[in-house]
Amino acid sequence: MPSDDQIRDGQRATWAGLSAGWEKWDSVIMDQLSPVSTAMIERLGIADDQQHLDIAAGTGEPGLTVAKLAPRGHVVLTDLAAQMLDIATRRANAQEITNFETKVCSADDLPFGDETFDSISVRFGYMFFPDVAKATAEFARVLKPGGRLCSSVWVKPEDNPWTTIAMQAIAAEAVLAPPDPDGPNMFRCAAPGHVSALYAVAGLRDVAEWDVDVGLVARSPAQYWEMISEHVSIAVAALQLGRVSNVGRR
Ligand SMILES: C[S@@+](CC[C@H](N)C(=O)[O-])C[C@H]1O[C@@H](n2cnc3c(N)ncnc32)[C@H](O)[C@@H]1O
Repeated sequence: MPSDDQIRDGQRATWAGLSAGWEKWDSVIMDQLSPVSTAMIERLGIADDQQHLDIAAGTGEPGLTVAKLAPRGHVVLTDLAAQMLDIATRRANAQEITNFETKVCSADDLPFGDETFDSISVRFGYMFFPDVAKATAEFARVLKPGGRLCSSVWVKPEDNPWTTIAMQAIAAEAVLAPPDPDGPNMFRCAAPGHVSALYAVAGLRDVAEWDVDVGLVARSPAQYWEMISEHVSIAVAALQLGRVSNVGRR
């Protein structure tokens, strides 16, 4: 069982490695995930002077969209991987967004005082934290009384054909070990009620869960394969394992 530090080190290296793929496929990824951002931002109730924290912000969403909605406010984008936040800064500069800052830190150890933020977003980051309960306690600590937290996680693989089609193709060519259900992986928080239970334990109230449909649009099967194999964490990991097992069989 890896330690929390080992998990953080692994995640930092993984996302540093995936960052070029995320920048290359930025517009396709943003189109795919924008319904999720829209739904999250709607529930967060952003005011024009909002103090907002985006956790595991990666290349900057939904934090940068919040920054545009809060011209008198301020957004802090945080992530474990500096390379992902560098892309967020380039995306912000291209859109002339200035009311933001970036901070490299882990979700379960936030360098902010108690009751600092009006709202927090975590789009597709939760499942990668070493200790999801500790991270949720940190979110509750830095939220002001009455503040809102909204996160998104992936539902089970069967309901995500945009990744399972590629994973089935990889599994046909390489022997893949099943992911550790308690370790960081894309579907670790998929069970209905999983994240709500974490919120409740952290003392958060008025918790709700809902589904948002997303669709991935690629121009061709070749483009679909290229983009999945360059930015989706489980696919990239499986392809690396496949390469290792192929080498072993020679
Ligand atoms: C799927 S990306 C999501 C990025 C962005 N929120 C989005 O939806 O486009 C997951 C992000 O989680 C970050 N991450 C992984 N472990 C983390 C941790 N312990 N603390 C903070 N961020 C972490 C990764 O570096 C990566 O940028």
